[in-house]
Amino acid sequence: MSATSERPAPTTRVTALPPYVFAWLDELKATARARGAELIDLGIGNPDRPTPPAVIDAIQQAWADPRVHGYPSFRGDERFLNAAAGFMQRRFGVTVDPARELLCVSGGKEAIAQTSMAFADETSGSLVPDIYYPVHGRATLMSGSHTHWMPLTAARGFLPDFSAVPVAALQRAKLLLLNYPHNPTGAVATHAFFEDAVAFARRHGLVLLSDLAYSELTFDGFVAPSVFEIAGAKEVAVEVHSTSKSFNMAGSRIGFAAGNADVIDALMAVRNNMGYGTPVAIQRGAAYAFEHAEVLTRDVAATYQARRDVVIAGLRSLGWELESPRGTMFVWARVPVGFSSQEWTQHLIDVAGVVVAPGNAFGPGGEGYFRVSLVADDARLAGAVDRLRRAGVSYR
Ligand SMILES: Cc1ncc(COP(=O)(O)O)c(C=O)c1O
Repeated sequence: MSATSERPAPTTRVTALPPYVFAWLDELKATARARGAELIDLGIGNPDRPTPPAVIDAIQQAWADPRVHGYPSFRGDERFLNAAAGFMQRRFGVTVDPARELLCVSGGKEAIAQTSMAFADETSGSLVPDIYYPVHGRATLMSGSHTHWMPLTAARGFLPDFSAVPVAALQRAKLLLLNYPHNPTGAVATHAFFEDAVAFARRHGLVLLSDLAYSELTFDGFVAPSVFEIAGAKEVAVEVHSTSKSFNMAGSRIGFAAGNADVIDALMAVRNNMGYGTPVAIQRGAAYAFEHAEVLTRDVAATYQARRDVVIAGLRSLGWELESPRGTMFVWARVPVGFSSQEWTQHLIDVAGVVVAPGNAFGPGGEGYFRVSLVADDARLAGAVDRLRRAGVSYR
């Protein structure tokens, strides 16, 4: 036998994953750049603005203290947990016990994957919207669980219809994933929707995992609710918060999970058995951010709202009929007839040097759409629209 034939193949956990469309997009960009194209890249949702200086100061000061140079504690630094609890109280009017109902996590993405590991396996199922931030669908697939895709349609405001979930899927399901404000559609959910979601989760014995990564990126006066504003939510729910978008801290990898103490314990068991906590110095910076959230997030939200207006007005001027999203850092638009999502993405790179994300990168329901990330300043976004206009791009 040759040496290579003896090497074991990776498990189906890895090999059965659907193709990662963003890897395809990376190749497309590299090819375009190799032929000299200068791209305006609105493909990935990576915040382009810096972390607030006061947060950086807090991190630097903390690193200077040797007491934070050892392993961090598993649940989190006391100051961070108190700051997260304070934020939940001030922002949502929700009381959480920092000692039992909170956990520091190294970003929302990991927390979502780890919650899936804690509650989904080959014997169980997960209910996931069919348009989703990739980890929502891929982590449940990696955990081996049977994923039921709940259709999201424009007609329903990209909210799932719980009454349409088949009985067989419900009997198997243990986990329900939701994310509002929603990446990639920009849809938002009201208090009433979360009431339905909590009632549904309680009725069917589900853990409700709510991803609130965009809680502070809302516009036109809309304020995103926490699931814990609903009575009884703490019996079933866990909510994941992130500093990445609200405070431009994507590189610091920190957020928190809040919710039912047993669910938090299960998530903590997965985390503790696979790694250590988030560096304490980073936790101190994030603590500062949550303690000053009202001031720090105002400017962030206003910046994205202005950018949204530039892109919405630009696409409307090219023939798109679009609603203005009331949250997130994305504009979600239909692909013109005759193109698939990926064909359209390639077309925009070829004719205008503008990179967007194809809708099918976000699950089966995303086919026929594309996503524009608002990760450039107003002038550059207007420049992207100009490029489209000059290239004769329009919605027909
Ligand atoms: C819906 C959603 N959840 C979570 C994340 C990841 O957050 P974090 O950077 O905290 O891992 C993202 C990042 O784009 C996201 O869009």
